[in-house]
Amino acid sequence: MLEPSADEIRKWSNSVAQFMIDYLEGLRRRPVYRHTSSREIRSRLDPALPVKGTDFDSLLNVFQETIVRFSRQNAHPRMLGYVQSPGTPIAVFADLLASTLNANLTIWRSAPAPVDLERLTIDWIRQILGFKTGAGGLFVSGGSMANLIGIAMARQTKDYSSAPLRLYASSETHFSVAKAAALLGIGRENVRYVAVDERFRIRTDDLVAKIIADLEAGYVPFCVVANAGTVNTGAIDPLAEIRETADHFQLWMHVDGSYGAFAVLAESARKLFEGMEQADSIALDPHKWLYLPVDVGCVIYHDPGIARAAFAHEAEYTRMFGEEADEAFVCWDYGPELSRRFRALKVWMLLKGVGLDSLGAAIESNLACARYLESMVRASDDFEMAAPVELSIFCFRHVPARLRNKSPKAIDAFNERLLVALQRDGSSYLSNATLGDRFALRGCVLNYRTTLRDMEILLDDLRRVAKSFLSST
Ligand SMILES: Cc1ncc(COP(=O)(O)O)c(C=O)c1O
Repeated sequence: MLEPSADEIRKWSNSVAQFMIDYLEGLRRRPVYRHTSSREIRSRLDPALPVKGTDFDSLLNVFQETIVRFSRQNAHPRMLGYVQSPGTPIAVFADLLASTLNANLTIWRSAPAPVDLERLTIDWIRQILGFKTGAGGLFVSGGSMANLIGIAMARQTKDYSSAPLRLYASSETHFSVAKAAALLGIGRENVRYVAVDERFRIRTDDLVAKIIADLEAGYVPFCVVANAGTVNTGAIDPLAEIRETADHFQLWMHVDGSYGAFAVLAESARKLFEGMEQADSIALDPHKWLYLPVDVGCVIYHDPGIARAAFAHEAEYTRMFGEEADEAFVCWDYGPELSRRFRALKVWMLLKGVGLDSLGAAIESNLACARYLESMVRASDDFEMAAPVELSIFCFRHVPARLRNKSPKAIDAFNERLLVALQRDGSSYLSNATLGDRFALRGCVLNYRTTLRDMEILLDDLRRVAKSFLSST
């Protein structure tokens, strides 16, 4: 029904709200993941082209019985895989309201208050990061898009008509950077991967050597991407040193803070981010460590003029007539998207409704969980760390007594099988990382519901699952 009655809408809202309350209350009792197959899921979904409509209760029933049941429960406190935010109730309501209003943030004129709210919220993020007044930014779909925008801006600053551009990033850098280079026509082959130290941070001596070698070979070095929290281990590159190197060689400094940058809100981590505020551009993801549901990424840049130079496009059908500077603001001049949903609303509602103190405390508690896991692993005789904990990511391996004298290859193979078995078991969920040439179990605490006790349960789960498949082989 395209236009249900007010009574019907009330009924739908009550059922949906009731589902949400029950779902959140029962989260811990659900498996994080239920092993299934695409065939099983499709067998539950009516494939017939829906010529006639179906009542709302039936749709909600499919959602509850099939969609929810066969989804990974990203809000679960032991969903520790990848870089997954849990979502948070205030943002659920913000998304509902944003879709109710259905604002389209193309230009100020099309969505006056939503665009002003986005600019205000972007400015709060600027202040959180310590960027100077006058810096600008946009909400985008995620970190990948924010990285693309930063690199497009960097490209704008160089003349590359006569020789290929070169971009530098550590070997630990997220693949979205290489993808952006490919999409922008820079070429994956012109992304130079720089060696890392024992803490997986970029080695500036290797960075400098690679830039000099490229200059001598006639390339045009234009950008260095620094990590503020790598996806594998959470490593933070030496940001102030990279700024110096970038200045020396006149390169753009883009920071990929998609995972880590919001940890600047936590007192114990703040120092690690010194120099981040001097980046020319930064990618960060409110849909990671601000706990918001996808999709909301963010790019912040010092010089909005360069974003404009990279993305502005005049077209007669979008021309604006007689407006003041603030009201003439054109969002599509600063990024690749034209139609944009009202992402700012959930960021604003979260920051204003929860406040930075509580968010900082939640991030602090995530950091404490990762440190606690590390201390338990180091104190145990059947687990080993594969990398130091920098933020809330931990990489480790299970090495039970009967594997202790086996080769690294055999231990890696065992941990790979263990990961699959753990995911199928459903009590805790990890993902993996390859560090050097070694396999590691990898967890990332990004949920304000996760407690120290969950870290203990995780190790117990791994021991239990390993025991059961060791005894069956
Ligand atoms: C360090 C880093 N950069 C970029 C990304 C890409 O972010 P998104 O998935 O929001 O596009 C991720 C995703 O995990 C990441 O961890």
